[in-house]
Amino acid sequence: MIPVKSSIGLIGLAVMGQNLALNIARKGYKVSVFNRTAQKTEEFVKNRVKGEEIEPHYDIKDFVESLERPRKIILMVKAGKPVDDTISQLLPYLEPGDLIIDGGNSHYLDTERRFKDLTEKGFLFLGMGVSGGEYGALHGPSLMPGGSKKAYSLVEDILLKIAAKTEDGPCCTYVGERSAGHFVKMVHNGIEYAIMQSIAEIYHIMRDVLDLPTDEMSDIFKEWNSGELNSFLVEITYKILKRKDEETGKPMVDVILDRAEQKGTGKWTSQAALDLGIPTPSINLAVVERIISHFKEERTKLSKLYNKRRSALQKSEEFLKDLKDSLFFAMFMAFSQGMWLISEASKEFSYNVDLFEVLRIWKGGCIIRAKLIDTLRRYISDENAHLLESEEVISLLKERIGSLKNVLKVSIENEIPVPVLSSAYNYFMSLTEERLPANLIQAQRDFFGAHTFERVDKEGVFHINWEEGE
Ligand code: ATR
Repeated sequence: MIPVKSSIGLIGLAVMGQNLALNIARKGYKVSVFNRTAQKTEEFVKNRVKGEEIEPHYDIKDFVESLERPRKIILMVKAGKPVDDTISQLLPYLEPGDLIIDGGNSHYLDTERRFKDLTEKGFLFLGMGVSGGEYGALHGPSLMPGGSKKAYSLVEDILLKIAAKTEDGPCCTYVGERSAGHFVKMVHNGIEYAIMQSIAEIYHIMRDVLDLPTDEMSDIFKEWNSGELNSFLVEITYKILKRKDEETGKPMVDVILDRAEQKGTGKWTSQAALDLGIPTPSINLAVVERIISHFKEERTKLSKLYNKRRSALQKSEEFLKDLKDSLFFAMFMAFSQGMWLISEASKEFSYNVDLFEVLRIWKGGCIIRAKLIDTLRRYISDENAHLLESEEVISLLKERIGSLKNVLKVSIENEIPVPVLSSAYNYFMSLTEERLPANLIQAQRDFFGAHTFERVDKEGVFHINWEEGE
């Protein structure tokens, strides 16, 4: 009897790959799997496959031959060279029209290059952002595939079935041309950095100014999560703050070292934003703050030389509301900066991204899912208008700016660093300022470099000899 071919293949059996393979198989598709190290495949099959139609392979040629034509192969291998290596191993066994989907966190420029190479060779390629962590991969991630519509149509059925579901449909859509999927996933992670840092700054104020016990902080975040701040990141924050260390009985957060790691996607977002000339200060500063967190020894030494002035503030309903509104404001700015960046990249790189759709697929499954996304979707309908122009947004922000100012005042008085909360404030204030002091900068540039300047009262470019008038 000829064995039934698999609908799809998956390479890379680390946790994300395992969970995605199980998710696909549980939706009724037969999946062939392969991993560089055979032992991982064996362990996966032994420990986690319980009746799902998952066929292990230990030879790449056999793996390819086990797939239906055109072949569809998802790569869940480490980003960077491993993706290129795996593609090179596969190519001798593939035929034109076969499809490779890179589901890792690849840099969008790598995806751009791979798309071009593979397309020239006659293969189909999708660069697909996958968000939702281990849980999402198994139970429904947010999927951000980009490449070509033709490639997408080959796997649309499978992707829609395995994605997270919301009242607005499955969290998967064809994001756009070539590397659009990985670009959008990168910005998703940048927004994630900014929101996480905003929450951390609020926690810092609660801890060191309000002097609140972690249980109480947890209750406050929990209450916030039931309203307009409802989001995955606020939800996990209240759960984290509740958790006690089994060994010491102390709150878990108190025994965790204040040094945050990063894999680079936040940094890539900032780099792309700087290259494209789009302001994303909240993302940039969230990255910087993670870097500063690394200098634990230096911070410890310096903290002793500069004693901080802290005076405990009594918790009040008013101030808690200020904190809540500030977090909303900062989250709004993080999304707003990210959406602007995607919109610019879409124009610059001809991605053809539908922002409304991107927000829709971020509603479920992914780390930045938040109620706020529904609000954003109501206002982002006009591609040419800046989000801040919408009347509803104006009142939303105006209502909260007083709270943010108060929180910043308290932070400054108590010498608490709030880079991302203040970046949200400064970003907003700069964007809404008709006359910035950039006229002086332009004069300085003309002074030392003859870079010329424009005038407010007539057309053209001008240069003067600045020393002459002295
Ligand atoms: P983990 O999550 O376990 O740290 P990782 O090192 O990020 O995993 O690697 C994720 C996947 O990429 C694994 O399946 C890994 O294969 P191994 O189990 O053989 O390590 C795969 N991978 C990493 N480097 C690779 C390479 N150069 N070629 C092929 N696959 C590779």
